[in-house]
Amino acid sequence: CGIVGYTGFQDSYNIVINGLRRLEYRGYDSAGIVVEDEQKKLHTAKTKGKVEDLVKISGDLKGISHTGMGHTRWATHGVPSDNNSHPHSSNNQKIALVHNGIIENYDTIKTMLLGKGYTFKSETDTEVLVNLIEYFMANDSSLDFPTAVRYSLNEVYGAYAITVMHEDYPGVLVVGRLGSPLAIGLGDGEFFIASDASPFVEFTKEAVYLEEGHMATISLENGVDIRNIKDNVKITPAIQELKLSLEQIEKGGYEHFMLKEIFEQPKSIHDTLRGRLLVDEGIIKMAGIWDNLERLTKAERIIIIACGTSWHAGLIGEYLIEEFARIPVEVEYASEFRYRNPIVTNKDVVIAISQSGETADTMAAIKLAKEKGAFVFGICNVVDSSISRFTDAGSYTHAGPEIGVASTKAFTSQLTILSLIALKLGKHNGNLSNVEFMRLITELDALPKKVEEVLSTTHDLVKEIAKDFVDAQNFLYLGRGYNFPAALEGALKLKEISYIHAEGYPAAEMKHGPIALIDENMPIVIIAPKQGHYDKVVSNVQEIKARKGKVIALVNKGDVQVANLADYVIEFPETSECFSPIIASVPLQLLAYYIAVKRGANVDQPRNLAKSVTVE
Ligand code: G6P
Repeated sequence: CGIVGYTGFQDSYNIVINGLRRLEYRGYDSAGIVVEDEQKKLHTAKTKGKVEDLVKISGDLKGISHTGMGHTRWATHGVPSDNNSHPHSSNNQKIALVHNGIIENYDTIKTMLLGKGYTFKSETDTEVLVNLIEYFMANDSSLDFPTAVRYSLNEVYGAYAITVMHEDYPGVLVVGRLGSPLAIGLGDGEFFIASDASPFVEFTKEAVYLEEGHMATISLENGVDIRNIKDNVKITPAIQELKLSLEQIEKGGYEHFMLKEIFEQPKSIHDTLRGRLLVDEGIIKMAGIWDNLERLTKAERIIIIACGTSWHAGLIGEYLIEEFARIPVEVEYASEFRYRNPIVTNKDVVIAISQSGETADTMAAIKLAKEKGAFVFGICNVVDSSISRFTDAGSYTHAGPEIGVASTKAFTSQLTILSLIALKLGKHNGNLSNVEFMRLITELDALPKKVEEVLSTTHDLVKEIAKDFVDAQNFLYLGRGYNFPAALEGALKLKEISYIHAEGYPAAEMKHGPIALIDENMPIVIIAPKQGHYDKVVSNVQEIKARKGKVIALVNKGDVQVANLADYVIEFPETSECFSPIIASVPLQLLAYYIAVKRGANVDQPRNLAKSVTVE
């Protein structure tokens, strides 16, 4: 979910609505706003649907207030509906609250409040919290609003970022954080609150990221007062300068963020490499790795944990690290790892990969690994995200903000950074000769150019090919070696945004099951670069053709054998097998994108998904 809040001299409605638009990637099944008018009355509007649906019903809240807050939701407790949308109000209608996260013991508190005569309009855990605040204030008239919020937060378990307003405390916003992110923007005569800094970048470059277990009371009169939720100890805020620019978070002429982000890849990969890959000097310079080189190269085992697309990057990371650094690697879904009592020791190194740096399952898995003594290295894209701050060390991917829900440029940047890490470790522990190291880093350096080339040579072609598959019901994606995880990712992209069922498989494994599905209606995407089990893949393609499957082949330029067998041919520039997923993924992203667009799907905000999943 996404939260926005404002108090200052501008129209709070505009700030909140525009902010919600920017945070819609965090959830978009319902949206709501509350503003405080000149008479200090709170006015709420909320609805199932998107921010634009909220705009349609809330016009009368425009221009009447200078303090307000809003929410865009990704449902956890209770279906998306008008009643379950945030903000939620307390029984006396004086308090309004927006919440991101889950309150795990809401049932117990709800039972207690029901016993005291409280009533509930929604099925949400959030409505329980807002009434608990009212209950504390009703029971002790000496209690002020921020203290009642603090008492309430001390009663709840779970994860939250909240913002609360109270009619008797005009111009005041109380916020709190445990497990879900919240940033406070410090303007000149105005304050902003948001789940990330994007809603306020054009107004201020100064922000405070609320730390775990902290709350803040924000007003023009008294500024930002930060306290520890547990014991009310006052905290001096650490002010940070924002590097984000407005241009980075706008579409820049593209129809969708996803397409813009696909096209940004030559630059994002270059940015991941920048200052780290120094080919002339023959070195890879990475502070996070350098400072912990012994710990990393002496690891008995590396465990990579991640979710979704980041997990696919992790699978390729396993191939890279095992090949070049010769350290055993396991790759786990964070959600499985955290609940299966895994064997982890202080000789293990955990690499956690997360674009957002906020994924709840990944965060919990890191906590567990740390408790068991492992050293945790983070690979995040979002600077200052929770995971980047909680890990022992790490490297940022520096791909820039990724807004499209389906990950594209963050994925190729994750592969780029994993390549750097594998080569650096391999060089340091003597598994990679100088000559081999130089050859590989020279190729790595050429990737941004090759990605640029694949974009320009395949874009129109892939768009054409997509037309023939608009009505497909299923898709198979096949690859071997490094391109097996690339096939998984290709399939994930298609299903996420087009809702066509797609499966990724190791090409050779096809004959142990999926081959039964193949007939003239089954499109099969096969990644077949020259370097990487080419002959074996040729046989796989023959097996498919013998069963009349429709083959879309991704091959290197000038390929003859596979190209002759395939129904559709997409060529991409040659590189070492280990880097080929970085290039091959690009036409796969375009294929998913154009099929989804032609099916009329909302590619930037696919149904039921959210970009940053801060609940487990
Ligand atoms: C969500 C997104 C996916 C993403 C996954 C992991 O499910 O929809 O695109 O891959 O979370 O996110 P992370 O930010 O941890 O990489």
